[in-house]
Amino acid sequence: MLELQNVARHFGGIKAVDGIDLTVHQGEILGLIGPNGSGKSTTVNLIAGLYKPTSGRVRFLQEDVTELQPHERAERGMARTFQNIRLFSQLSVWQNLWAARVVRESGWAGLRARWFASAAQGREQAEQMLEFCGLQGKRDLLAGNLAFGEQRRLELARAAISGAPLLLLDEPAAGMNAEEIDDLDQRIRTLRSQGRTILLIEHHMELVMGVSDRVVVLNFGRKIAEGLPHEVQQDPQVQAAYLGADEDDELAQTALRA
Ligand SMILES: Nc1ncnc2c1ncn2[C@@H]1O[C@H](COP(=O)(O)OP(=O)(O)OP(=O)(O)O)[C@@H](O)[C@H]1O
Ligand SMILES: [Mg+2]
Repeated sequence: MLELQNVARHFGGIKAVDGIDLTVHQGEILGLIGPNGSGKSTTVNLIAGLYKPTSGRVRFLQEDVTELQPHERAERGMARTFQNIRLFSQLSVWQNLWAARVVRESGWAGLRARWFASAAQGREQAEQMLEFCGLQGKRDLLAGNLAFGEQRRLELARAAISGAPLLLLDEPAAGMNAEEIDDLDQRIRTLRSQGRTILLIEHHMELVMGVSDRVVVLNFGRKIAEGLPHEVQQDPQVQAAYLGADEDDELAQTALRA
């Protein structure tokens, strides 16, 4: 469904992403992990089109999208969440969902007219998403006044309401407590069962190892491992990357497990 071919992105002397190959198959949950600064968010930005690669190609649904703008890629069927939450903080929960649905129908042009159009159909969709993110009781609150975990849930729902077959989730569990992470785990599984394909960036190991079909590990902008979650967890290179640890370091193994 998605393929990165030898993709690199350099910022001056910093090789944020340094020539990676990455394939996301239709219907899978692919975990993308790695230490801080290893290039995970840059990879998402290269996929979504916020950054153009210094070299390499990005293919999505049989099409080379390397030169396309973010909105053009979104129209082809990808949606994302941001590591730093980006909601319309001065709009209500409901309006955030509504806006996401309306915008996704055909871009920003004519937004105002569409805001008021096709209300019945959109309302039902937005209601479903409100239920999905468990914010029915808070529909009229300003998004900026929600608790942190609720904002993350709303962001996920906003990405999901687009109907995009590919979801790019950049640390959706950051700042969540254990209970919220369990809920998120279920929501991600629900999305997949509805046929979505998911690229999940996460530092929370229990979540990403539990929910992912495969895991890719980055370190210093390069792919250092790829495989089933338990294979990756036992990979000495991965353990070393995480804690600068020895192969048999108990601490590193614990960090990767927990
Ligand atoms: N716009 C930019 N300009 C300059 N350097 C950047 C830019 N974006 C990212 N970098 C650098 O590229 C490297 C990779 O950053 P990136 O945000 O992709 O890491 P990450 O794996 O998402 O880290 P984290 O887990 O902390 O979110 C870092 O050294 C970062 O400082
Ligand atoms: Mg990041």
